[in-house]
Amino acid sequence: MSVLFALLVSLDAANARGPGLPNVMVLATGGTIAGTGSSSTTVVGYTAATVGIDTLLNAVPELKTVANVKGEQVFQIASENMNNDYWLKLAKRVNTLLAQDDVDGIVITHGTDTIEETSYFLDLVVKSKKPVVIVGAMRPSTAISADGPINLFNAVILAGSEEAVGKGVLVALNDQINAAREVTKNNTSTADTFRTPELGFLGYMQGNKPYFYRQSTRRHTADSEFDVSNLDTLPQVDIVYGYANMNRVAVDAFVAAGAKGIVHAGVGDGSLARPAVEPALDEARKKGVVIVRSSRVGNGIVARNGEAKDDEHDFVVSDTLNPQKARILLMLALTKTSDTKEIQRMFYTY
Ligand code: DGL
Repeated sequence: MSVLFALLVSLDAANARGPGLPNVMVLATGGTIAGTGSSSTTVVGYTAATVGIDTLLNAVPELKTVANVKGEQVFQIASENMNNDYWLKLAKRVNTLLAQDDVDGIVITHGTDTIEETSYFLDLVVKSKKPVVIVGAMRPSTAISADGPINLFNAVILAGSEEAVGKGVLVALNDQINAAREVTKNNTSTADTFRTPELGFLGYMQGNKPYFYRQSTRRHTADSEFDVSNLDTLPQVDIVYGYANMNRVAVDAFVAAGAKGIVHAGVGDGSLARPAVEPALDEARKKGVVIVRSSRVGNGIVARNGEAKDDEHDFVVSDTLNPQKARILLMLALTKTSDTKEIQRMFYTY
């Protein structure tokens, strides 16, 4: 290699890393943050997942002042279309990148509709303590006061921060930092939609810095026992929603369709309608389908042997996980075991 070429290569490497700036990868998957509307006042009825990663990054030149940022378009979807294939592709890419010494943290831009599910899935399968921050927007990139650029700027700072190391997968929008396990979308359209009801935010972004005030007590990321690196599919797990005057049709239909697990989003403390639903769940259990009692209420502990005799029925309870999060943990649990005592341990661990 000539001396001049060697000099150019080393200069490029130096520029690439920046003096002391963290190396942050931004993986784009679609959503409103990449959405466009017909005018600057279109904040509903826009098209999600139309703007590519390079445009997203170029719209925030300030990113260069806080990190060495590289972008990658992993896929481009409205997140209501998220599925297991996308999840496995994203998880494997995240783990490959985090294993690299030249990657300090990852930001994932994502539709807000299923951020709470993707974040918890990754919280259970990312095999690193390095920060992974999921970010979205509630207004499309073309709108007045689009929230995407500032959310992305804050997410990159957070993903490159020492403070975020070991905190698990984080969801950061609207200057607020949420943990993947509990975060949920609380409003269909407002910018402050992501909350952690009752248990609260982990902290805030303020003045281009993260401030943490608590962290999750549950196992996640590098401490997780789940590994999807060799999986190409995930077990089918479905959710049955509870309500007054409920019938058994949905339970029977999911069993007939081959569900390996069913999460029952019961009224109250995970209550089961009798005689309509409990016998259907019993029959499903006897066919080998694992049943988890969760609650549509959204907060609080679903007590084991409270509203149903779980020991007798061989049911599992979801602890405080809402139905959509319980579905993810049950799906990953079923990649390791069908033993309900082991699965119940997992629900008290993660
Ligand atoms: N289609 C919805 C999604 O991609 C738009 C919501 C959003 O991203 O804020 O999740």
